Amino acid sequence: LNNGLASTPQMGWNSWNFFACDINEAVIKETADALVTTGLADLGYVFVNIDDCWSAQKRNSKGQLVPDPKTFPSGIKALADYVHEKGLKLGIYSDAGAFTCEVRPGSIYHENDDAELFASWGVDYLKYDNCYNLGIKPKERYPPMRDALNATGRTIFYSLCEWGVDDPALWAGKIGNSWRTTEDINDSWASMTTIADLNDKWAAYAGPGGWNDPDMLEVGNGGMTYQEYQAHFSIWALMKAPLLVGCDVRNMTAETFEILSNKEVIAVNQDPLGVQGRKVYVSGTDDCLQVWAGPLTGHRLAVVLWNRCSKAATITAAWGALGLESSISVSVRDLWKHQDIVGDAVASFSALVDAHGCEMYIFTPKTVSVSDI
Ligand code: GLA
Repeated sequence: LNNGLASTPQMGWNSWNFFACDINEAVIKETADALVTTGLADLGYVFVNIDDCWSAQKRNSKGQLVPDPKTFPSGIKALADYVHEKGLKLGIYSDAGAFTCEVRPGSIYHENDDAELFASWGVDYLKYDNCYNLGIKPKERYPPMRDALNATGRTIFYSLCEWGVDDPALWAGKIGNSWRTTEDINDSWASMTTIADLNDKWAAYAGPGGWNDPDMLEVGNGGMTYQEYQAHFSIWALMKAPLLVGCDVRNMTAETFEILSNKEVIAVNQDPLGVQGRKVYVSGTDDCLQVWAGPLTGHRLAVVLWNRCSKAATITAAWGALGLESSISVSVRDLWKHQDIVGDAVASFSALVDAHGCEMYIFTPKTVSVSDI
C-alpha cells in the first residue's frame, strides 16, 4: 500500500502469542518499558501492538468502541501517549466482520467511525482480522478500512489478517502494508515449518510497501528448542516477514534475547532491497536438507542452510542454486557466530548443520576488476 509506510517489514511486539486474552494496560506499559530497557527498541522493535480483547463487549450509546473498563480503565489514548513518550508506536486490533475472533465488536460497517476513533487516540497500526465476516469476500471487506484510515489524515500501518484464505498476496498489495498468508502459528516445530513453506509460495508478491506475513514470532514461548527458535528467526528474517515478537519480553531468557537481538540477522530482514528470500534447493529424505536464499543490496546474498532432518548433516549451497557463476569467488560471513569464516569460496559452500538448526550467512561475491582480466 502506497501510504509511505513499510519500506521494510514492520518490527515490534504483539500481545497475542503469549498473553492471548489475558491482557491489561499494565502489561502493555511494562512491555513498552522492557522493549526500551532491554535495547530491543533501539534495534528496531518499535510497534507495541495490542491484539484481541482490549475492547468491551458492546459499543457505547454513540456507537463507539470502548476499551474494557476493567482491564484498560485509563483508555487507549493514555496508553498511546505512554508509548509515544518512549519513542515507540501503538498498534491496535479490530476485525473486518461483525465480531472479533474473541467476540468483541467488529468494525464492518463502522469503518469510518472506528478509524476516526483510533486516529483520535493516536494509534499507529491496525491489525484487521477476519472472523464473523458475514460471508462477504475479503476483497470487499478490507478496502473500506484502508480508505477510512487514509481519510483520518493520520499515518496508520494497515496489517491485513485474512489468514491467506483468498490468496491475499495476489490482491492485497494495493490494500495493506502486510497480509497474513496462513492460519495462526502455534509454538511448535511442526507449525513453524509448515507456515514457512506456505509463505514461501508467495515470495514474488512481497516488496517495499507490502509484505507477506507468516504470523508472529514464537521465539521465547517455550515450545521449541534453542536451535529451532534460531531457525524460526533466521527464516522469518530471510523471508522479509514482519518481526513481531510474541513472548513476554519482561521475562526473557538470555537465549531468547540473544536470538531476537541479532543485529546481523535483523539487518537482512531490514535490507532496503526488500526482496523475499526463498527456498532454492532441497535434498535428503522428504527434502529435509534445505538451502534458502535471497538477494541483498550491494550484490550480496543472504543464505540459510536449514537442516529439518532429525540428525546433524552437511548441507551444500552450490553457486548454481544461488544464481551465481560457478567460477565466482565469494566471501562468507556467519551471522550467528558473527565472524568472517571463508574469504574465497568457489563453486559451492558446505557446512555441518545441527538437527533442526540452521546456519545463516551473507555471501559477498568478489567483483572482478578490469586489471584482473
Ligand atoms: C485470529 C488471528 C490471531 C489473533 C486472534 C485473536 O485467530 O489470526 O492472530 O489475532 O484471532 O482472537
